[in-house]
Amino acid sequence: MEKITTRADMRHYAARHGAETGFVPTMGYLHEGHLSLVERSRAENRRTVVSIFVNPAQFNDPGDLEKYPVDLERDFAMLRAAGVDAVFCPPRAEIYPRGVPPLQMAYPDLMRRLCGAARPGHFEGVLLIVHNLLQWLQPANAYFGLKDYQQYLLIKKMALDLEFTTNIVGCPLVRESDGLAMSSRNVRLSANGRTQALALSRSLFHAADLWKNGHTVAELRSALASGMASLRTDYAEVCDAHTLEPLHDKATRKAQTLIAVAAFVDDVRLIDNVLID
Ligand code: PAF
Repeated sequence: MEKITTRADMRHYAARHGAETGFVPTMGYLHEGHLSLVERSRAENRRTVVSIFVNPAQFNDPGDLEKYPVDLERDFAMLRAAGVDAVFCPPRAEIYPRGVPPLQMAYPDLMRRLCGAARPGHFEGVLLIVHNLLQWLQPANAYFGLKDYQQYLLIKKMALDLEFTTNIVGCPLVRESDGLAMSSRNVRLSANGRTQALALSRSLFHAADLWKNGHTVAELRSALASGMASLRTDYAEVCDAHTLEPLHDKATRKAQTLIAVAAFVDDVRLIDNVLID
């Protein structure tokens, strides 16, 4: 597995292999969810490149950035075993040699909803790094987990509007056997917090059942609120999966509905969602 640490080498890699490459951008501390993206990329491309970069531009809370788990050796071992061809793991100064630029790409309607409401600047930081990574590597396909559904939607929109040649692929959310959505942040949960965190997925599954059985949006919202009553909830929403606009009643049922939640457990912010066709 090749290790690339500079933008120049990433561009060289792109010139030789970009068109046959599938790309999985990550912030490291990998888990089965990331490996499912790697597996998909390997099945669909001749080469797979993974990036590991904890992007300071997308952390609105400096404490969260400081606590973000990092273990590069463990990540490298997992990627080697998964058959990844190259890993891009640049130091921070390589990505932001002049500091994080104030350049911003904004989709105000999509960004002010769900996670964007409580994390100002987060998605601008995500789009900045993903834009740059895709420009440097020029991969044929790039793979993103649908746990970060809003992120996926924004990246897809950016790639379309800026006419990137990279195809943006959304991949199913991966859960632990008890339902908890996999996340690098789960390692920060205490044993008690780990149990409490199950309230997110349980509430979502219950709400999805209610939705399928024809219950109203108000009934779903109240089921979500009571299912998550023991947690500090950031949001629990039922929305149009394309615009993220909240739905209000059965008449606004859309072809695709997203039920999404965010809550704090042990001061760790967790998100989860269910997408209903
Ligand atoms: O989903 C993530 O891990 C990050 O937001 C991403 C896409 C790697 C950008 O830093």
